[in-house]
Amino acid sequence: MTQASQIKTVVFPVGGSGTRFLPITKSVPKEMLPILDQPLIHYCVQEAREAGIERFIFVTGRGKVAIEDFFDRDISLERELTEKNKRDYAKKVREVSLESGQMIYVRQPEPLGLGHAIACAAPWVNNEPFAVMLPDDFILNKNGPGALAQMIEAYDYAKSPCMAAVMTVPQEATSSYGILDPAGSTEGQLIAAKGLVEKPKPELAPSCEAIVGRYILPPQIMDELLKGKTGAGGEIQLTDAMAKLIPENGFCGYRYVGDRYDCGNHEGWLQANNAAFALRKKAEEEKAA
Ligand code: G1P
Repeated sequence: MTQASQIKTVVFPVGGSGTRFLPITKSVPKEMLPILDQPLIHYCVQEAREAGIERFIFVTGRGKVAIEDFFDRDISLERELTEKNKRDYAKKVREVSLESGQMIYVRQPEPLGLGHAIACAAPWVNNEPFAVMLPDDFILNKNGPGALAQMIEAYDYAKSPCMAAVMTVPQEATSSYGILDPAGSTEGQLIAAKGLVEKPKPELAPSCEAIVGRYILPPQIMDELLKGKTGAGGEIQLTDAMAKLIPENGFCGYRYVGDRYDCGNHEGWLQANNAAFALRKKAEEEKAA
């Protein structure tokens, strides 16, 4: 078995409150904000399915039941649509739902950081490598496989079991990201790092290579996270736990192919909608031609 073919589990940290999208996030989880007619989290699940993932762990919190309902089957709606001869819609509704036993919902009791959210899934990852996807990071690859499928493909060639998607950001933006301290060249698609820093000030950033919300992690990361050490912002940081594993496991950044939109803010979310609309229109036109 290749290492990559072991990756069957994804963890989605979806407990965050979505303050920047208030007031809508008062009653709508931020992961349910739409890109066209699909919620953000649905794009992540599609990207994960395409990458061969079979177990979906959602780390949720208060007010997130809409996510569970969305991926649940709605037999009466499917029947109603079929009876009204709206079979295309019935199919769409059916395709969203995950099979029973594929999804696990775990609660994060307190907002103690991304690392803490991931640690809440520790009992369910079966001591295997697993993926993590952050729904705020919407990645569109117009002409090929999604970012996670690309990473899983590259995983067997990476010299580390600890991998994260990477993009180059402007120097003034480093304080919004986990930043790599590169071990060598940053030119290729795989970038080794000898250190990682969470949200460094621009003048202190070791590079402009920033982590984007797609990870493949070894199960040992859970032991590190469960120590509960706090870092930047007083939170338990995933970046710090990955950095701790570097002496033994190394770290590999993966420069994915695709456009990333930060849907954690209004501008990124609007741009993502525009890009998704243009792509869908093009696909419809090609189908009609
Ligand atoms: C998180 C991570 C950060 C990463 C970013 C990508 O930060 O902590 O290392 O670069 O996601 O979007 P957040 O944006 O949740 O503050």
